[in-house]
Order: sequence, then C-alpha cells, then structure tokens
Amino acid sequence: MAIETLTIRRPDDWHVHLRDGEMLRWVAPYTARQFARAIVMPNLTPPVTSSALVSSYRERIVEAAGPGFTPLMTCYLTDEAEPDELAHGFEEGIWVAAKLYPAGATTNSASGVTDVANIYPALERMQRIGMVLCVHGEVTDPAVDVFDREAVFIDRVLSPLTRDFPELRVVLEHITTRDAAEFVRDSGPNLAATVTPQHLVINRNALFAGGLRPHAYCLPVAKREEHRLAVRAAATSGSPKFFLGTDSAPHERHSKESACGCAGIFNAPYALEVYAQVFEEHGALDRFEAFASLNGPAFYRLPPNEATVTLERRDVTVPEEVGGLVPFRAGETLRWSLRA
Ligand code: DOR
Ligand code: ZN
Repeated sequence: MAIETLTIRRPDDWHVHLRDGEMLRWVAPYTARQFARAIVMPNLTPPVTSSALVSSYRERIVEAAGPGFTPLMTCYLTDEAEPDELAHGFEEGIWVAAKLYPAGATTNSASGVTDVANIYPALERMQRIGMVLCVHGEVTDPAVDVFDREAVFIDRVLSPLTRDFPELRVVLEHITTRDAAEFVRDSGPNLAATVTPQHLVINRNALFAGGLRPHAYCLPVAKREEHRLAVRAAATSGSPKFFLGTDSAPHERHSKESACGCAGIFNAPYALEVYAQVFEEHGALDRFEAFASLNGPAFYRLPPNEATVTLERRDVTVPEEVGGLVPFRAGETLRWSLRA
C-alpha cells in the first residue's frame, strides 16, 4: 500500500533570500510556515557585510516571520573581508557562515569577490574557527558559456580552494550539474551541497517552453536533462553531503516579466511539497527526512529540530499568483500537502 502520510522532524531551509522591507514582511511567513530555521542570504542593497548590518537585518526578519522561526545569518564577503570582523561575528553568534559571491555572478553581487585570492586570509581564519563558507559556484568570465559556468567554477576555483583549505567547511550552493554532484560526492566530508526544488524538477527546456518563461529563470540556470537526473540521484541517494536549500528568491512580477528579467524563483510557498514528490518518484521517501531535516544541521553542527511536520497524500493545486508574486509550479497540481 502506498504511504499516505509522512511525518518527519521539522525541516530547515539551508539557503533562502528573504529580502527586506515590504517584500520581507510578505515572504518571510511562507518560509516560516515550512521551516524552523533558514540560512538567510546577505545579497541586499547595500549588501549585509558587517555585524551591525547583519544584527539589524536579523531583527527585521524575526519581526516579519513571527514566533517559532530562527533565522541563521550569513555575512557577505567582499574583497575587503576582515578576518577579525568575521571571527568576531561568528564568536558572538551574529552569523553562522559567510557567503562568497563571485563579483557579478548574480543578483546584488556587484560588491562580491573579484578574485578568491583576495579573501584567502579570511578563509584561513574561517577554517581555523570552524565557520562555514557558502559558495555561489559560477565563474563570471564572459567567455564562458552560461551553461558551463558551474562546471568551470569547480575546475578553476572550487577545486584549488578545497585543496588549499582542506579543513574549511564549504557548501556548494544550489548545484545544477552532474559535475557538481560528482565533485561533491567524491570530495571529503568538509564539502557539501544544497539542492533547490527547481533544479530537481525542471531542465533548461522549461525556459523556452512555447516561448520565453521568465518564472523558470534563476541562477545558476537550469541545465540539460542529464544534469537534472544527476542532481536528483545525488539528492535522493541518502548521502549526508546533500541537503535542502530552496534558494527561494522572490522578485516582483514586473521585474521578472521584463525585457531584462531578474533571476530568481519564488518557491517558498510549496517547497516541501515539491521535494516530497521528487523523493516519492525515486522511491526514496525513507530518505526524505535526512535530506530535509538531518543532513543540514549535522553539517552546520546544530541539533536537528525536535518538533515534527506531517505531509499527507492530498493533491494541491499551486495558485497562479501568491500576493502578486508567481510561485514555482504555478497552476500545477502537486501530490503532497503539508498539514497545517
Ligand atoms: O536566481 C537567483 N536569484 N540566483 C541567485 O544566486 C540570487 C537570487 C536572487 O537574489 O534573486
Ligand atoms: Zn541564492
């Protein structure tokens, strides 16, 4: 008999964009409804680069999300990252990780790192104190094809970095390729990866299905089917190196549906439902709790949540619009529902 309900420890989202201001107040409750904690990305304008900026952003998130949700903050790395400041924020519990955006790789990454050599002193210190590095793994070299930027990043940047800092704990965020899945799988225990709902569900055809589809556009961009299959195999493999990170990245509708549409998919409202369906399709529902609720805390050296959530087999149709934003899978019917 098919499984009708699935009760797991409450999951966390190990990669999310909660934005600020009105957008924060609008989207934070969707993440808080599904997840107990979340690693919050620091790519605001201006970027969240100091303990003062991170602390006040954290307060705004707590206010917007309401009780029962714990934001785990990250510090935005620039070429000027100060090892002492990073260590101070970590030791004070202001942030749990720092985020490496290669300058120009994605939304609000202009202040990012132009050459990882510039942050080697910061990485040295992070390695020593046990602070996690979250990585947007794409090169920005305009000569590199957009669909190859993750694979080239692994060769040119990540592989040397993990060799130079073998004890640094690194999360390769939102993996999209076979190259990334295999590199992470074959590396030591200090390298892990997050996996988004969209990269498990769509391939690059979705961007062009009957016309240009801005709501399927995010960075790293979806790749060929063979890569989606490799990412699915990794996520559902049971390996502790792969865990849930939605990369939910809301943009106002007019910013998506534009001559130069923003990258980002707003998947927070139904993220768990989408992931659960993928695990079911792989006959891996018995591995879903590890992916959603155990592997992330273990990597970040935090306790798993004690509370549980229940998903039940009940169709739900994703609305075309959620408060003016277009959610991932809009108009599609999903097979699992999160019990309120
Ligand atoms: O699609 C994306 N959107 N990828 C990112 O790396 C950033 C994010 C955003 O902030 O909109
Ligand atoms: Zn992101």
